[in-house]
Amino acid sequence: MLRSLAKTPRCDPFSAASLRSLRRRLITWYRRHRRDLPWRRTSDPYCVWISEIMLQQTQVVTVVPYFERFVASFPNVQALAAADEHEVLRHWEGLGYYRRARQLHRAAQQIVERHGGQFPHDRDDVLQLAGIGRYTAGAILSIALDQPEAILEANTVRLHSRLLGSQENPASRSAQDRLWQFAAKLLPKRGAGELNQALMEVGSLVCTPKAPRCGDCPLAEWCQARALGLEGVIPRLAKKIPATSVREAAAVVWRGQQVLVRLHPTGERWAGLWDFPRFPVETESPRLVADELARCVTDQTGLRIVVGEPLATIKHTVTRFRITLDVYHARRTGGRQLSASGELRWLRPAELADVALSTTGRKIARLISQGV
Ligand code: ADE
Repeated sequence: MLRSLAKTPRCDPFSAASLRSLRRRLITWYRRHRRDLPWRRTSDPYCVWISEIMLQQTQVVTVVPYFERFVASFPNVQALAAADEHEVLRHWEGLGYYRRARQLHRAAQQIVERHGGQFPHDRDDVLQLAGIGRYTAGAILSIALDQPEAILEANTVRLHSRLLGSQENPASRSAQDRLWQFAAKLLPKRGAGELNQALMEVGSLVCTPKAPRCGDCPLAEWCQARALGLEGVIPRLAKKIPATSVREAAAVVWRGQQVLVRLHPTGERWAGLWDFPRFPVETESPRLVADELARCVTDQTGLRIVVGEPLATIKHTVTRFRITLDVYHARRTGGRQLSASGELRWLRPAELADVALSTTGRKIARLISQGV
């Protein structure tokens, strides 16, 4: 008896017939539950591209207003290619990961130069564009042009790891290969774009990182993690590297009614964004910080300053760094601008609205506009 049971072939949850039924269930669920997002109201590859770049490392709710402002100001590839990089960064201010914006701008220029301003339809051409990798190419080509291209991003990594019951670290090479293969196997002949979006939607709304809502999941009957009781531990992520704490100080240097700002040059962390002069500091003692800050401003700009009252302490996390930024008022007392200091400007607080600032730079600008 036991032996004959053992011989019974186990039903393959991902056989061709089972996958057809999975796709049907998924699409029915998606049509009922999909969020009405602005980039889902168009099949213009340009808009899908902008949305996909913004959605990298950023939540949907954060992206919506940025997307709307961006496409209103730069409605097509030509408009984006012709824009000043600083204008593009101003529209990106607050979204973070500013490299995405600089690459988007560069890719728009490549599309004008290489493809006459038409977003390319060929996968290899798309992959040649700045800032576009395998995921983004697959997303644009499937969603905008319904090409049968697979996608794999954070939501689908989690969903597929659970569907497959995979206990590997999903970032490992072998897991990535398996997950991409599975993503390709899920694709239908037609309707890949809708299917890909449906998968991301289940990942984002139902198959959440913590406390997945398996009772509401259209794919629960295919889920191997659930069958094994492992939905709470899959995906088995590698341990996060703890954030490094760093201390920085910034000076709001006044010259009459104007304050000093500096453009982060190419190669610096926030290249293309303006900021108040800021530096890493070794000490927490306010007097020593003030001395160090004055010295750093003079070394960088040639301007002599006296540091005055503290203005604020701002805590801010960027990638792996937990930054504590002490901000001081300061006054210019002399010195001459060094030619190597990069671009400096003296602006009235109200004029700071016209320049792209780092996130902490914008917080400081708000404080001084309120007269703090
Ligand atoms: N995350 C990345 N791309 C997405 C999309 N098109 N819809 C929802 N979430 C996403």
